Amino acid sequence: MSGEVSLLRPAAANPATSPELTDALRATVEAKSQAALALLQSAVDELGRQHEVTFANSFGAEDMVLTDLILRNKLPIEIFSLDTGRLPTETYDLMAETEKTYSTRLRVLFPRLDAVESYVQSHGINAFYESVELRKACCHMRKVEPLQRALKGKKAWITGMRAQQSATRAELPVRQHDESNGLEKFNPLSDWTEKEVWAYIRMHDVPYNKLHDQFYPSIGCAPCTRAVAMGEDIRAGRWWWEDPESKECGLHVKK
Ligand code: ADX
Ligand code: SF4
Repeated sequence: MSGEVSLLRPAAANPATSPELTDALRATVEAKSQAALALLQSAVDELGRQHEVTFANSFGAEDMVLTDLILRNKLPIEIFSLDTGRLPTETYDLMAETEKTYSTRLRVLFPRLDAVESYVQSHGINAFYESVELRKACCHMRKVEPLQRALKGKKAWITGMRAQQSATRAELPVRQHDESNGLEKFNPLSDWTEKEVWAYIRMHDVPYNKLHDQFYPSIGCAPCTRAVAMGEDIRAGRWWWEDPESKECGLHVKK
C-alpha cells in the first residue's frame, strides 16, 4: 500500500484547475455566486442570527469558494474544520494561508486523545488499510465524533458538496433536513460544475490547496488520498483500494 501523499510527481499545467475564463463562464459564475450568497444569507436570517449556522471547511476547492463568500461578505457564519491528525502538509499550509489572507482564526476540532490512543494500541497506526470496518472506525473517531461536537447547539450547517461529485450525491438538494444530526443542512454549490468552482477561485484569487495542481481533485487524509489519472473519476483517489460502494466516511450519511 502506498502511504502518505507523495510529492514526487512534478507540477504540471493542469487544465482542470485553470479553465479558460470566457465571458460566458464568468457570467455563469457571477450568477451562481449571487445565488449561493443569497442562500447563505437566508440561512443566517432564518436560523443563524446568534452564530448558530456553521460551515464545515475541509479546505477543498469548493470549500475555499464558500470560505471566500462568507468572509468577504462578513456573514456571521462560524467556520470549523476537522483536523484528523493525518491531513497532508499542504492542507495545513492552506489553513494558515487562509487565516492570514482573511485576517481570521478558524475553529479546529481534533479527535479525542483517548480514542486515538486506544485504536492505535489495539490495531496499529495504519490499520485503516486492513479492512473496511477498521477504516470506518478510524473515520468515525477522527471525523464523525468531532463533527458531532462541532454541530452541538447549531441550527444549520453548510457543506461544499456538489451533485456532480459522485453518484451518491446526484440528487443533492441545496437544502435538506439532516436527520442524523438533527439540524438543517445547506449545500449552496450543489449545482456548480468543477470548472465553475475553479473559475471562481481564479476570478477572485482565492487561496487553494496546492495538491489540486498535482491532480488531486478531492483531498482528504494523506494516507487515504492519491492523485487521479486523466479521465479517472474525481473521487477515484479517495480510499482507492476499496469498492466504490463502501467509500463513505460517515460525515454525510442519509438516514
Ligand atoms: S468526504 O465525506 O468524502 O470526506 P468530501 O471530502 O467530499 O467528503 O467533502 C464534502 C464536504 O464535507 C466538504 O465540502 C465539507 O463541507 C465537509 N468536510 C469533509 N471533510 C471535512 C473536514 N476535515 N473538516 C470539515 N469539513 C469537512
Ligand atoms: Fe482515518 Fe483515512 Fe478516514 Fe482519515 S480518511 S479518518 S486516516 S481512515
